[in-house]
Amino acid sequence: MDQLDQLITEAQTAFSAAPDANALEQAKARFLGKSGSVTELLKGLGKLDADARRAAGAEINRAKTAIETALESRRDALRNAQLQAQLAAEALDVTLPGRGLRQGGIHPVNRTLERVETLFRSIGFEVADGPEIETDWHNFTALNTPDNHPARSMHDTFYLEGASEVLLRTHTSPVQIRTMQTHAAKYQGGDMPELRIIAPGRVYRVDSDATHSPMFHQVEGLWIGEQISFAGLKGVVIDFLQRFFETDEMQVRFRPSFFPFTEPSAEIDFAFMSGPNKGRWLEIAGCGMVHPKVLANGGIDADRYTGFAFGMGLDRLTMLRYGVNDLRLFFDNDVRFLRQFND
Ligand code: FA5
Ligand code: MG
Repeated sequence: MDQLDQLITEAQTAFSAAPDANALEQAKARFLGKSGSVTELLKGLGKLDADARRAAGAEINRAKTAIETALESRRDALRNAQLQAQLAAEALDVTLPGRGLRQGGIHPVNRTLERVETLFRSIGFEVADGPEIETDWHNFTALNTPDNHPARSMHDTFYLEGASEVLLRTHTSPVQIRTMQTHAAKYQGGDMPELRIIAPGRVYRVDSDATHSPMFHQVEGLWIGEQISFAGLKGVVIDFLQRFFETDEMQVRFRPSFFPFTEPSAEIDFAFMSGPNKGRWLEIAGCGMVHPKVLANGGIDADRYTGFAFGMGLDRLTMLRYGVNDLRLFFDNDVRFLRQFND
């Protein structure tokens, strides 16, 4: 049956010529479809007598199988080619360095905060807390800063719209009042054990330049007892700074100053005596002996007890420790900057 062999060859040629699956299915229809050549031949069998039909039927079926085999193998070849093309297109260079999974890091100011807490806890200070939205009374009045006092204009305060009695605290000093009140209340009329706390947290002022940010961090320190002196204040602060910066190569200056809530008062300036930031002075804190009126506002007997207090700028400590000269970098949230403190 030459005709059938020719048909097989024709089908094989057509299938090999089909460039993609679509073209292949169309070529298939020409041979195996409803009115394809093979189907037509099978339809013609009805006209033959029984013997001839059996013989011709077997031959046609052999050809049909051969065509189906050719179709299947072309389908495989096309599928394979498509897979290869896709693999080539989506190839990964596994030798490139990975991006890795970075863990989040601790913000440099929080590192300072944790360090400050550890150092003060080690000498018996407890960590206290107070609200960032504070009453005018706690932030100013109780700290001996009456409405018309000139010291009030020292702070450019963020007040809250429609609420004249509350504001964003301008320093951590109101926590002094809050902790004194709770402490004193516990020992009313009796002997009061020493009160020794630090109170770190956010504070707010209308302020912005390389060393001032409208939101910044302070840590308040307060030590009240029967024999508390300015010498004690100096000792605690200098010892803290030496441990915090892990060096004795520093100059610390207690510069006379004024705060309505301390008397006498000083500001603490700091400079390294060696290293890259040698000789650069930066004010890091205000401090002094707690004013008797403030003790009284905290419910503490000012005739019997004295105390010292300080308020240190945590962002300033962080600048000095890491040699950063613009504190606004800490709050820009640029991970390229922040990452440097966590590798
Ligand atoms: C006070 O805020 C007083 N409450 C400190 C104090 C506490 C005195 C207890 C006496 C007793 P002063 O405004 O100087 O003081 O701020 C204290 C420190 O906070 C400064 O020395 C400085 O280190 C830091 N600081 C102040 N303003 C800013 C600011 N805008 N940005 C960053 N740090 C600041
Ligand atoms: Mg100051």
